[in-house]
Amino acid sequence: MVYQTSNEEHPIEIVNIASLEKRVKERMDKGAFGYIRGGSEDEWTMKENTSSFNNKTIMPRVLRGVDHADLTTKLWNIDLSTPIIQAPSAAQGLAHEKGEADTAKGVAAAGSIFSISTYANTTIEAAAASAPEAPQFFQLYMSKDDRFNEFILNKAVHAGAKAIILTADSTLGGYREEDIINDFQFPLPMPNLAAYSEQSASGDGAGKGIAEIYAAAKQGLIPEDIKKIKELTDLPVFVKGIQAPEDAEVAIAAGADGIWVSNHGGRQLDGGPASFDVLPLIAAVVNKRVPIVFDSGVRRGEHVFKALASGADLVAIGRPVIYGLNLGGAEGVTSVFEHLNKELAITMQLAGTKTIEEIKNVTLK
Ligand code: FNR
Ligand code: LAC
Repeated sequence: MVYQTSNEEHPIEIVNIASLEKRVKERMDKGAFGYIRGGSEDEWTMKENTSSFNNKTIMPRVLRGVDHADLTTKLWNIDLSTPIIQAPSAAQGLAHEKGEADTAKGVAAAGSIFSISTYANTTIEAAAASAPEAPQFFQLYMSKDDRFNEFILNKAVHAGAKAIILTADSTLGGYREEDIINDFQFPLPMPNLAAYSEQSASGDGAGKGIAEIYAAAKQGLIPEDIKKIKELTDLPVFVKGIQAPEDAEVAIAAGADGIWVSNHGGRQLDGGPASFDVLPLIAAVVNKRVPIVFDSGVRRGEHVFKALASGADLVAIGRPVIYGLNLGGAEGVTSVFEHLNKELAITMQLAGTKTIEEIKNVTLK
């Protein structure tokens, strides 16, 4: 049976980000929705990701002459309209016929950074072509097969990727019960795997579950893999999925150019801490040596504010972008950024902070 999904292309009305999930549940294939929404096991860590932002408060400051908020910021030499970026997520063809090509366009229109997953339903080249002027990163699931790693990193470099994200927290899939109940298998091919599978038996992902896809990935990631990626691409490398401060130190010592603090949106190790709870300690260890991206559980502008005040330079969103893609295509993605930017601007003004740099000097209570 041909997989049916959205082909809508329009802005979406948003009251709050959390409400998007229910709107998407009502219209998306059950298995696909379960895969996107789902966390691992009891989803304790997934729930803690969002509720943990309530553990810290923002002291509002007044009489500071703040008459508007300036959300602009930079990462290296990349100018950004917002500190909010998109987190790489696989198989966006589940949410929209145009998949990652539309997400790339919507994120570009928001003046932000798009990152394409190894397990995308769109080629790296097609995503790059859909937003040729905008910065894009490539997220690598390193394979056991070094020839695959060279092949796909080469594609990313030639497509103009500005950085590589090495995801380190998923050497096998978390125990995702909804996918098991739904017997979820990806209905669409992953063309970047398919392009290589002509030369090997890696397969293109269609008809497989995430656990099988992960089985082809490299389980035994080591710090030297960071060096290997840098030598192959001559690009900066973010290490994504850092939760222990010690691992931030290990990654930087091995040459990491950025630390991506994340627990994969609670989809991997259930029973681990909320990502927000570990951010301050990691920021202290990193000590501004390299940029920090934070993700997992961000659903409010105040969450973005609190993450920036706790040591993040940029804050990434995963599921909300996919929901916006399903509800409105590229423009729906842009609507999600615009809504979160609106909430962030309100938080900034009421907190008495005019710029992103000022937020970074705020001490939460
Ligand atoms: C992801 N994530 C992810 N991460 C990654 O490095 N490579 C990937 O291919 C994927 N795929 C993926 C698919 C889906 C459906 C989701 C929801 C997430 C994790 C993602 O980058 C990010 O860490 C989390 O999504 C952030 O949490 P929130 O914002 O979704 O709560
Ligand atoms: C996931 C993988 C693809 O979270 O990162 O499903």
